Parts: sequence; C-alpha cells; structure tokens
Amino acid sequence: MFNLTGKVAFITGASRGFGQAIATTLAAAGADLGLFARTEEGLLETAKFVKNHGRRVLTCVGDVMHPDDVSAAIQKTVEQFGKLDILINNAGIIVRHPIEELTDEDWFKVMNTNLSGPFFCTRAAVPYMKQQKWGRIINVSSMMGLVALPERVTYSTSKTGIIGMTKSLALELAQYNITVNAIAPGPFLTELNQQAKGNPVVNQFYMERTPLKRWGDSGEVGSLVLYLASEESAFMTGTVIPIDGGWTAQ
Ligand SMILES: NC(=O)c1ccc[n+]([C@@H]2O[C@H](COP(=O)([O-])OP(=O)(O)OC[C@H]3O[C@@H](n4cnc5c(N)ncnc54)[C@H](OP(=O)(O)O)[C@@H]3O)[C@@H](O)[C@H]2O)c1
Repeated sequence: MFNLTGKVAFITGASRGFGQAIATTLAAAGADLGLFARTEEGLLETAKFVKNHGRRVLTCVGDVMHPDDVSAAIQKTVEQFGKLDILINNAGIIVRHPIEELTDEDWFKVMNTNLSGPFFCTRAAVPYMKQQKWGRIINVSSMMGLVALPERVTYSTSKTGIIGMTKSLALELAQYNITVNAIAPGPFLTELNQQAKGNPVVNQFYMERTPLKRWGDSGEVGSLVLYLASEESAFMTGTVIPIDGGWTAQ
C-alpha cells in the first residue's frame, strides 16, 4: 500500500518543517521529487534525505509569490523527470498582530504566500496532470482555516481561502481524474511556531487546548500526505482533513 514508485511530486516549502518531512516520506515510498523554496541550503539538506532513499531529486530556488519562478520550476521538474503526478502546496508563513498593527505589506505577504502561491503552482501543474488523466493536489491549510484564534486575521483568512480553492478545483478537475484535497494541521513545533519554543506560557496554552496533550510530529503530516498522494485515496476529493490532536473536535 501507498507505493509511489514511478510517481513524480513537486513540493513547495521543502527547505524545512513539514515540507522536509513530506519529501522524506514520499521519497521513502518511491517518488522522485522537485523541491521548491527560497533557501538553497535547506533544499540541499532535504535533497540529502531524498537521495538516502535512492530517489532522484531536483532543487529549485524560488518564491511562490512570483508566478514565473513557480512555472519555471515546475517546467524544469517535468523536463528532468518526464511528468508531474503530485503537487504539494505547503509553503506558508504566519504573522500574528492585532489588526491595527498589521501593515499592507503584512497582509499582501501572507495572502500572496499562502493563497496566491498555491494558485500559481496549481495553474502551472494542472496541464501536465490533465494530459495523463491522473493527478493529486494536496493543499496545506491549517486548523486556523476551520476555527480561529485572535490576532491571526491574515493567516486565518488565507487558510480558509485555500479550503475554498480546494473545493472549487476538486469539482473542476474531477473529470480529469485529478483529486484535490486539503489537510488542516494543528499545533506542530516547526519554525512557524518558533514563539512557542521555550515559552512556557504559550506552550501551556497550546497543551491545555489540545486533547491529546502534545505537539504533533511533522512525520505524522508526512504520513497523511502520503495517503492522499497515493492510489488508495482515489475516491477522495474536495475534502479537508484535520490532523490536530483533537483541537477542532471541541
Ligand atoms: N507548524 C504548524 O503548527 C502548522 C499548523 C498548521 C498549518 N501549517 C502550515 O504548514 C505549512 C508548512 O509550515 P511549517 O510549519 O513547516 O513552517 P516552516 O518550518 O516555517 O516552513 C515553511 C516553509 O515554507 C517556505 N516558504 C515560506 N515562504 C515562501 C515563499 N514565499 N516562497 C517559497 N517558499 C516559502 C519556507 O522556505 P524558505 O524560507 O526557504 O523559502 C519553508 O520551507 C505552512 O503552510 C503552514 O501554514 C503549519
């Protein structure tokens, strides 16, 4: 089960955190990978994990906010590996401020990274998937797309938006046997949650609110993405799956 041998995946935000864990998991399942982020050093580290699993890998430095970067990287991936089967829209950022303190730049940066980025990537990837009548698109939303906390208006708006994108594209692309699903992670101690590391107050807040009373492990996100990327998830599209230690069940 969950064998990706012969499949090619493109992962954004692959220089650390979830993206690195997803890359490692998909490579262990047999996929060849195009990895995309702004930091070459992190991409090269992820590439090492991929190669350890004997898979082929291409690293592409670029910014998801720039449609030309994204199109060029996806095109390069197809040139190198002959096709594109799986797109993981994972790159994302957070800004936490009360609304009066949010600048125009904050707003556009979060929206353009978390929402325009997945749109640009999907638009560039879909023609290759349509040609072969097979595709898997997995969008990384957040539990903050389903519920909310104060001082996260840009983040929550973008993560709710990507759920709308997921549903609309699932309907549009079903006829081409391309599925589109989203995952909604809860609290994980990646760099995105840097403020929680070593801050007992923030840590306690998260633990009190998480029924399973722990932070998630990025490998657990990798496993869920692997399922959604595999043949076994063929009848699922337009869904949003929380992986949040029970947070959104409350
Ligand atoms: N950690 C959590 O608890 C949590 C919970 C729910 C959802 N999420 C979502 O999961 C995704 C991954 O987050 P993470 O926790 O792994 O965060 P992370 O460790 O901060 O990693 C974010 C990744 O996105 C990349 N990235 C950021 N801006 C980019 C841009 N403009 N262009 C290209 N790449 C960009 C970063 O690479 P460079 O800096 O090298 O570009 C990095 O690889 C995000 O969408 C986040 O919103 C995380």
